[in-house]
Amino acid sequence: MKPVRVLTGITTSGTPHLGNYVGAIRPTVRASRLAGVESFYFLADYHALIKTGGDPARVQRSTLEIAATWLACGLDPEKVTFYRQSDIPEIPELTWMLTCVTGKGLLNRAHAYKAAVDKNNEAGTEPDDGVSAGLFMYPVLMAADILMFNAHQVPVGRDQIQHIEMARDMASSFNHLYGEHFTLPEAAIEEHVATLPGLDGRKMSKSYDNTIPLFVPREQLKKLIMGIVTDSRAPGEPKSTEGSALFQLYQAFASAEETAAMAQAFADGIAWGEAKQRLFERLDQEIAPMRAVYDELIQDPARIEKALKMGAAKARAIATPFTQRLRHAVGLRALDARHDAPGADAKAAKVALPVFKQYREKDGQFYFKLTDAKGAVLLQSRGFAAPREAAQAMARLQQEGSIALDAMAQHLIAPEDVERVTLALTALRQAGA
Ligand code: TRP
Repeated sequence: MKPVRVLTGITTSGTPHLGNYVGAIRPTVRASRLAGVESFYFLADYHALIKTGGDPARVQRSTLEIAATWLACGLDPEKVTFYRQSDIPEIPELTWMLTCVTGKGLLNRAHAYKAAVDKNNEAGTEPDDGVSAGLFMYPVLMAADILMFNAHQVPVGRDQIQHIEMARDMASSFNHLYGEHFTLPEAAIEEHVATLPGLDGRKMSKSYDNTIPLFVPREQLKKLIMGIVTDSRAPGEPKSTEGSALFQLYQAFASAEETAAMAQAFADGIAWGEAKQRLFERLDQEIAPMRAVYDELIQDPARIEKALKMGAAKARAIATPFTQRLRHAVGLRALDARHDAPGADAKAAKVALPVFKQYREKDGQFYFKLTDAKGAVLLQSRGFAAPREAAQAMARLQQEGSIALDAMAQHLIAPEDVERVTLALTALRQAGA
C-alpha cells in the first residue's frame, strides 16, 4: 500500500503552549511513528510575517523555539521530512499559481478575514482597515503548503478546517483547468482533545493571552496551574467536571482510568488546591523528560539549523521537480520547448499509454486488468462469471475514469498505487482511447 502523507505546520509567531502540544504536536509526532505514514512537518515562518510585521527577532526566536519543541517531543528528522517553509522557494511560487485559480469571493469568506472586517464594521471604521493583503491571502499560502506535497491528511485544530476545505477547492479548480496534479487533502481532527481550555477557561490561545507555555521551568508551570480559574466551591463540596478547565486539562494528559479517578475525586469534593496539585504532577510527569531535551537544544541553534537544512533538501527533492511539472502545465515553459506541446504530449503519451486487457483464467472466470505501457499491472479485476460482465465493468472504468473506482470496489482487487491508477485512467480518457 502507498503510504499516507500527513502534513502539518505551525506558525512561528509565538512560544508553543499546551494547546499546541495536545492539539498538534503530540498527535502528529505519534502519527509519524506509525507504519505506512509519510510525514511532513514544517515551521510556517512565511505565515508568521502576517502577524508579526515589524518584529523580526520574534520570528527568529519563535522559529527556534518551535523547532526545538518538535525535536524535543520526539520527532525524528531522519524519518520524517522536517523543514522550514521559507527554505522552500517553490512554496511562494505555487502560492501565485493557486492565487490565479482562486475566486476572490472565496477568500472574502475566510473566517479570519471576515472577523477582521466585522470588527471594523462594529467600530465604524473602513471594512478593510488594518487588514493586510497577507491576511487576506493566508488561505492560499496554506493551500500551497499542503498541495505542494500532495498531502492526504492535515492534522489541524477545528479553527483550521475551513482552510483545508479551501485548499481542496483550489486543488479542484487547478486540476480542472490543468489536469490531475493535486491530491485533495482532508483535515484530520483529534476528536476528544481538539481544543484545550486556557487559564481563564476560554480556548487556550495566544490571542486571549491565557496560555500555559509547554516548556517553562517546573516551578513556573506549577505557579501557572495554581492560577487556573475555578468556581468558589469549598473543599468537601462536590464539584462539576462539566465545563471545568482544570478537569479538561487533566483529561488531555491522563489515561482513561486516571481521568475516571479524577472525576470521582471531583464528585467527592476534592479541594481545588489539591486538584491543581494533581494536575501539575500529571503534566510534569509527561513534560519533564522532554523539557530536559528542549533546554539542551535551545542552547545549540546550529544543531537545529542543520536538521532543518537536511529537511529542506528532502522537501525540495519533491518540490523542485513537481513545480517544474506545474510550470509546464500552466504554460510557463521554455520558449524552445515544442510549442505544440499539448498535442505532442498526447502523441508521446499515446505510445506509452496504459492498456486494458480482458482474459479468461483457468478457473473459467473472466477478468480484466489495466497495465502500464511496459506491461506492469496497475489494476486487476476480480473474476466475472460471464465475459459480458467483465467487458461492461471495463468499459465503465474507461468511460468514467477514477470516479468509478469506489463504486466498483467489490469487483476490483484494491490497487497498490491508487494515484498511478488514477493518472493512468485520466491519461486514457484524455487520449480518447
Ligand atoms: N495555519 C496554521 C495555524 O495557524 C499553520 C499552517 C500553515 C498550517 N500552513 C499550514 C497547518 C499547512 C497545516 C498545513 O495553525
